Amino acid sequence: MKKVLFSILLAAFVLTLAAQTLPIYLDDTRPVEQRIEDALSRMTLEEKIAVIHAQSKFSSAGVKRLGLPDFWTDDGPHGVRPDVFWDEWEQAGQTNDSCVAFPALTCLAATWNPEMSYIYGKNLGEEARYRGKHMILGPGVNIYRTPLNGRNFEYMGEDPYLASRMVVPYIQAMQNEGVAACVKHYALNNDEEYRHQVNVIVSDRALHEIYLPAFKAAVVEGKAWAIMGGYNLYKNQHNCHNKILLNNILKKDWAFDGVVVSDWGGTHDTEEAITNGLDMEFGTWTNGLTMGTSNAYDNYYLAMPYKKLIKEGKYTTKELDEKVRRVLRLYYRTSMDFSHKNHGFLCSEAHYEAARRIAEEGIVLLQNTGNLLPIDRNKVKRVVVVGENAIKMMTVGGGSSSLKVQREVSPLEGIRTILGEKVQVEYVRGYVGDVTGEYNGVSTGQNLVDERKPEMLTAEAVEKARTADYVIFFGGLNKSDYQDCEGHDRKYYELPYDQDRVLEAIAKVNKNVVYVNISGNGVAMPWKDKVAAIVQGWFLGSEAGHALASVLVGDANPSGKLPFTWYAGLKDVGAHALDAYPGVWRDNEKIIDEEYKEGIYVGYRWTEKNKIRPLFAFGHGLSYTTFKLGKVIADRTEISASDNITVSVDVTNVGSRAGAEVIQLYVSDKKASVDRPLKELKGFKKVFLQPGETKTVSIVIDKDALSFYDEVAKAWKAEAGDFELLVGNSSDNITSRVKVTLK
Ligand code: BGC
Repeated sequence: MKKVLFSILLAAFVLTLAAQTLPIYLDDTRPVEQRIEDALSRMTLEEKIAVIHAQSKFSSAGVKRLGLPDFWTDDGPHGVRPDVFWDEWEQAGQTNDSCVAFPALTCLAATWNPEMSYIYGKNLGEEARYRGKHMILGPGVNIYRTPLNGRNFEYMGEDPYLASRMVVPYIQAMQNEGVAACVKHYALNNDEEYRHQVNVIVSDRALHEIYLPAFKAAVVEGKAWAIMGGYNLYKNQHNCHNKILLNNILKKDWAFDGVVVSDWGGTHDTEEAITNGLDMEFGTWTNGLTMGTSNAYDNYYLAMPYKKLIKEGKYTTKELDEKVRRVLRLYYRTSMDFSHKNHGFLCSEAHYEAARRIAEEGIVLLQNTGNLLPIDRNKVKRVVVVGENAIKMMTVGGGSSSLKVQREVSPLEGIRTILGEKVQVEYVRGYVGDVTGEYNGVSTGQNLVDERKPEMLTAEAVEKARTADYVIFFGGLNKSDYQDCEGHDRKYYELPYDQDRVLEAIAKVNKNVVYVNISGNGVAMPWKDKVAAIVQGWFLGSEAGHALASVLVGDANPSGKLPFTWYAGLKDVGAHALDAYPGVWRDNEKIIDEEYKEGIYVGYRWTEKNKIRPLFAFGHGLSYTTFKLGKVIADRTEISASDNITVSVDVTNVGSRAGAEVIQLYVSDKKASVDRPLKELKGFKKVFLQPGETKTVSIVIDKDALSFYDEVAKAWKAEAGDFELLVGNSSDNITSRVKVTLK
C-alpha cells in the first residue's frame, strides 16, 4: 500500500514538474537554433504566412497563440521616426515619440572616426528600445555616385573602404542594445529618380569593388541581422527578389543568416519572392505596391497569393520554412531576447551629448583663407548672420528619415548663445527658399514666410554686412522635394534660390565672410575665391546650432574630412561626363537602363584618372592647428600573400591648439594586368594631439588592400609586383610614400 502511494505521489510530482518545464522554444537556456526548430514545428501554415509580411505600416504579426510578440520596426537612420497610424501615413499623434535627431550619415562618415559610429549606434539603439522598436531601418551605405542623388545625405560617401569601416560599429553597437539594424538599400540604389524603374547595368568589377564592399562589411563583420532590398533592378530583376544579389552573393557567399526585408512596396512578384531570397515583405500601401487601394495586407505577394500556391501544390513549405526560420531568428535576437534588462532611454542628455560630439567631429572646414576662423569672441563686436538655413529646422523633411524632435538648436540660436550678450548678433534673411516646414503630418511650427522681393532681401543683407566684423552666411540645400530628399534627385548642381547672387553681393562689401553650407551633397561654388572661409555643415540634427557655433568660435577644433569629392561642376563627375545618368528609357517606357559606364572610376578614382581638380578633394578637411607628418615607414618591404604590413608615421601637432588629424593610407598598384585607379583608400586613423605632442600612427594592411576583383576568376586577386603605399591627410595631399613588393 505504502509502495502504491509512493508511486502515485512520485508520478504526480513528475507530472507537475513536466507541466512547469518550458517548451523548448521558450526556454532561453537552449541553443537558439533548437528553439527556432521547435517554434517552427508548432506553427500552422497560416501562422507561418502571417509572420513573413506586414500587418501594418511598420509591424508584422507575431504568433500570439505561442506567445511570440508582434515585430515592430521604424525608420531610421538618423533617429526613431514618429509613429504613424496602423494603416495610414498620418501621425498617430503620440506624445511620447519625440526623439533626438543624430547627425545625418554623411556627417558621421565625415568624422572618419569609427568610435563615433559606435556611439551613434548605441545611442540610437537606446532610443529605439525605449520606443519599443525591434529593428531600425538603417544605416544606408549606397555609394555617392552623383551629387544629384536626393538621398546621399542618408549614406556614407563615395568610398567603399571608408563606408565599410564606418558602417560596422553602428550596427554592432545598435545590436548590442538588442535592436536589429536593417542595412539599406541593397544594392545599386545610387539615385532616387525613377528608383522603381531603374535597371542598373554595371561591370562585375565595379559591383564588387565599389558598390558591394560596405554591404559585405555590414553583413560579414557587422553581423547585421537584417538587410533591405533596393527598389531598383539589377540584371532586369527587382532587387527585393534578385537571385544574384540575394541568393548567390548575400546568402551563399557572405553566409548571411538574417532577414531580407523588402523596401516598402519593393516586391513585385510572388514566385520570385518565394525563390529569390526575400524573407519579409513590407509595403507603402496595402497591396504591397506603391499605389493606393482598398485591398488589405492579405493581398501582399507573400501573403494569400503565396498560401494559394502552396495549397495548389506548386510549392512545398521548404522555402517558407526557411524564411520563417530567419524571422524567428530575428525574434530571438530582438523581441524574444529577454537578456536585455534595460528599457532604453528617450531624449536623455547623454543622447544629446552624443549627437553634439558626432556633429562637431563631422563638420568640415573646407577653406580658411587668412585664418579668418575661428572667431575670437573677445575681439568681435558685431556679427551678421544671413540666410534661411540659419533658422530653418532641418529635421523635418527629406522623406522616410524625417523626424519629430524634442528639440533642435538652430545655427542662429547656437551662435547667439556662444557669443553671449557682449557681441551684437544680427540676423537677416538674405533669400527665401522653402517655407513649408511640414512632412507627413509633422510640422516644424515655424513660420518662414517672407513676402519681400529678392532685391530687397539682398539690399538689406548687403547693408547690414557692410559694417559687420563677420558675416556668416548659412546657405545650401534643404530637405524639400528635388533637394536633399527621398523620391527624386536634384535637378541641378547649383545652389537654389539665387543664393550665389546674394553671397557675391555680400562678398563685395565685406572681406570677412564665412559661408556655411548645409547639405548632404556637394554644390557648385562659383564664388569660392571671393569668400574667405567655407564650412561644410551637413544636416546635424538636434544639436546642429551648438555644434556649428562651437566650431566657428574654436571651442571645437574641426577635424572632419570629406567623405566624397567636391566637384566644381557636373561635367567633372564620371556618371555625368559619360552621360551615364539617369539612363535610357526602353521603348515600353517601363524600365530605364542606367549603365554605370564609368565602371570603378567613381569619385576621386575618376577625377585623378582624368586629371580633374575638384573644388575640394576626397579626404580634405582643415584644422585650426597644424600637423606635421613624418616619413612613412613599412615594417617590411617584401611580402608574401599571407603577410601583414604595418605602416607607421609620426604625426606632430605643431600648432597651438589641441586637435585631431586623420592619417589616410592609399595604395597604388604600379603595374597590373588590369586598369587600376591611381590610388585607393585602404586604411585611416584619426589621432588626437595636444599642442607640441607627437604620436606614431600605425596602420596594418594585408593582401586584401592590394587586391582587385578579377572578373574572369570571379574572385579577389593580389598580383605579384610593386605597390606604393601613400600616406597623407587628404587624397590630394600625400606627404610620404613607401614602396613594397608582393612576391
Ligand atoms: C524607403 C526606405 C524606408 C521605407 C519605410 C521607403 O520608401 O526607401 O528607406 O525605410 O520607405 O519608410
